[in-house]
Amino acid sequence: MSDALKRLFQLRSEARLGGGEARIEKLHAQGRMTARERIDSLLDPGSFEEFDMFKTHRCHDFGMEKKIFPGDGVVTGYGTIDGRLVYVYAQDPTVLGGSLSETIAEKICKVMDLAVKNGAPIIGLNDSGGARIQEGIESLAGYSDIFLRNVMASGVIPQISAIFGPCAGGAVYSPALTDFVAMVKNNSYMFLTGPKVVKSVTHEDVTVEELGGAVMHSSRSGVCDYAADSGADCVRYVKKLLSFLPQNNVETPPRIATQDTPDRRAEELNDIIPENAAEPYDMKDVLLASIDDRDFFEIKQNFAPNLIVGFARYDGRSVGIVANQPMHLSGVLDIDSSIKGARFVRFCDCFNIPVVTFVDVPGFLPGTAQEYGGVIRNGAKMLYAYAEATVPKITVITRKAYGGAYCVMSSKHLRGDINYAWPEAEIAVMGAKGAVGVLYGREALTQEDPAAFLAEKEIAYQEKVANPYVAAQRGYVDDIIEPARTRFRIVKALGMLQNKNDSNPMKKHGNIPL
Ligand code: HXC
Repeated sequence: MSDALKRLFQLRSEARLGGGEARIEKLHAQGRMTARERIDSLLDPGSFEEFDMFKTHRCHDFGMEKKIFPGDGVVTGYGTIDGRLVYVYAQDPTVLGGSLSETIAEKICKVMDLAVKNGAPIIGLNDSGGARIQEGIESLAGYSDIFLRNVMASGVIPQISAIFGPCAGGAVYSPALTDFVAMVKNNSYMFLTGPKVVKSVTHEDVTVEELGGAVMHSSRSGVCDYAADSGADCVRYVKKLLSFLPQNNVETPPRIATQDTPDRRAEELNDIIPENAAEPYDMKDVLLASIDDRDFFEIKQNFAPNLIVGFARYDGRSVGIVANQPMHLSGVLDIDSSIKGARFVRFCDCFNIPVVTFVDVPGFLPGTAQEYGGVIRNGAKMLYAYAEATVPKITVITRKAYGGAYCVMSSKHLRGDINYAWPEAEIAVMGAKGAVGVLYGREALTQEDPAAFLAEKEIAYQEKVANPYVAAQRGYVDDIIEPARTRFRIVKALGMLQNKNDSNPMKKHGNIPL
């Protein structure tokens, strides 16, 4: 072996050690993987090609000239997942806490630029203490360069963030700009400022877990789409997520062969709606019975569970599912569920993924908490997202579709392509009780038995208005279908819509109510 080659191998093995063996051991003791181990577990074996392994920072302040690590604090490159090209970067917490230097930003921007030019997803494996304090403004400039690229890539290629360790300051905003964020429970945190700064400014005592842990972000803030049990679980999630997505915004998602026949009946759906309309049932049973192989990939499972969103397939075709969940808050729409649904629909629309919507919604949640929190502004997001979406949109109203929530949930009027209703559907401006109270409340007071009078009016209202036939007479639903055949009807509609071509007026961009 020549000396030159020996030198190369020597330098490579030094670079592979990142911040050194002691720090790697510390990481392993905490149950965390190194940046390279994370990449290896994500990509197809042997597919990783690394860039900039010898790149080092250029800082000479605060003794930094003595802290030089080849490759600096990030590993970047490309490889494949299930044979499909992806670009990847993994921050290395063994090098100065994974903090972001000017050179790290350059490395990340290089793979982001390649990902956009070559139309393939970018996956960031994050573990960083934020801006490298010694570099000051150069680090902030580097972050800004990354943020700009996140925004330019948005809607062009899928961007996925996995959070494997503490992410502070600038390290949280790039993930926040990406399409999906997965975090590892008990090992990863996201916050702008840590508990010490919080204490000094607001005098709150809070743990890192409470302030920015995976459980908090996946259930309260909505920043995180999935709280993984371990690093390996997080990697599994990212891989499976990618299987539903196209490589970029001009491709369609891969079609996956299935043994689940398109015309499989789901007899249980004919009896799933309880006799009493106030009784809940599990909308997930409806979804699972109709999709391929009962394989539902849920997004934001623990955030606003009154609305279910996620990916599934019908006869191998990838779809985004949006469904009201009567088991939580009667499936009502509120601020959080509107934000969750709107963002998901917009993602599907960016990436040519048809949206299938299951509707059982009693309306928007009333009350001061919702009004003060801006349910008008936030509910409008959902309207906006469905209205602007040009991908195939299929809707199945299983039970209630009341008021504004009827309009919102992919109605015909918002360019729903195929709108079906089950025979039990109730499509009306409001529920019978509320409607009768408004229409006959005063008259009831003049009756001998006001309660009996109102009960009679309720039955009449229910029969006249709260059924699917009024909507069907006007063509607002295309057909009233047997629940057991829901799968087949959706499969056929998706096939019919596969070459759908619709567009919006030319504009710089719309102004979604933020
Ligand atoms: C430079 C940093 C650093 C940083 C950590 N290190 N964060 N160096 N800049 N931001 C260094 C430490 O000095 C230490 O070096 C080594 O990394 C490991 O750090 P530890 O604290 O020992 O590790 P750990 O206990 O695992 O804690 C990791 C951490 C913590 C949670 C990330 O280090 C931390 O809280 N760091 C600061 C986080 C922060 O405030 N960031 C905001 C930056 S401002 P030695 O040599 O001692 O081993 C910002 C604004 C950008 O990001 C805004 C853009 C919009």
